[in-house]
Amino acid sequence: MRTGAEVVAGVGLADRPRKSRWPARMDLAQSLTGLVLGLFMWGHMFFVSSILVSKDAMWTITKMFEGYFFFGTAYPGMVSVVVAGVTVLFVLHALLALRKFPANYRQYRAFAAHRRLLHHGDTTLWWVQFMTGFALFFLASPHLFQMLMHPGLIGPYESSDRVWSGSWWPLYLVLLFAVELHGGIGLYRLAVKWGWFEGTDPNVSRKRLSMLKWSLTVFFLVLGLATLGAYMKIGYEHRDRVGERYVPAWVKPAPEQGGAK
Ligand code: HEM
Repeated sequence: MRTGAEVVAGVGLADRPRKSRWPARMDLAQSLTGLVLGLFMWGHMFFVSSILVSKDAMWTITKMFEGYFFFGTAYPGMVSVVVAGVTVLFVLHALLALRKFPANYRQYRAFAAHRRLLHHGDTTLWWVQFMTGFALFFLASPHLFQMLMHPGLIGPYESSDRVWSGSWWPLYLVLLFAVELHGGIGLYRLAVKWGWFEGTDPNVSRKRLSMLKWSLTVFFLVLGLATLGAYMKIGYEHRDRVGERYVPAWVKPAPEQGGAK
């Protein structure tokens, strides 16, 4: 419908400059990249935690990703391809998120004042997601670079040596809390934003979603801490043999005779 002013001015709807669809597209892209990264992290935590089952279990998962059971030879480069894909998604997601960061100190002060005034749970969650997202820029980058450049150095002894003797455990400890809080809140906010799992009563649905979110976050934090503890313990026990590769007893003979590389 044309407004009074437009009728007077003789301006129709078709004459109005079209609103850009880019903000909506960028919002969708941010949601999609976040969703894929969140689901990837669930898979990642399960694969990495195979060390809790046994060293052989972790070795088997590692070799599976290197195509060993398919080609008969391990190709660690295959892992680099996956890492490159995850890194692209990570950078894209971070770039899109930058749009929502306070642009200057005044904007930051205004948001902080509103947050204090509102005392609203989901607004505080946004704040935690913002802070952990900022931390992830720095914490996840070294890990991704290491995995990209040295995919062949993943394994029960190789990873444990890195975690303990290479002193990576403090970074992993902080990264674990940052990524689990960020991912859990992110997936919860996606569900609220796009109306997933919405029942007849929005308040009840939101409470249920919040419960689910906290349960998942606690579950993955406990799993992650146990996993990190296992790598630290194996690394500590292996500290005098740093650099030795793990090969399960049932895989020997050695690489040159067709065993694992
Ligand atoms: C395809 C990409 C990735 C690969 C191949 C990968 C692989 C691994 C491996 C093998 C470990 C065991 C420790 C080690 O070997 O150093 C590990 C640990 C860990 N990774 Fe990743 N990772 C990837 C991406 C990420 C991302 C994007 C994050 C978070 C933003 C992340 C967070 C962690 C954390 C917190 C640990 C410590 C283990 C724990 O506490 O359970 N990883 N990762």
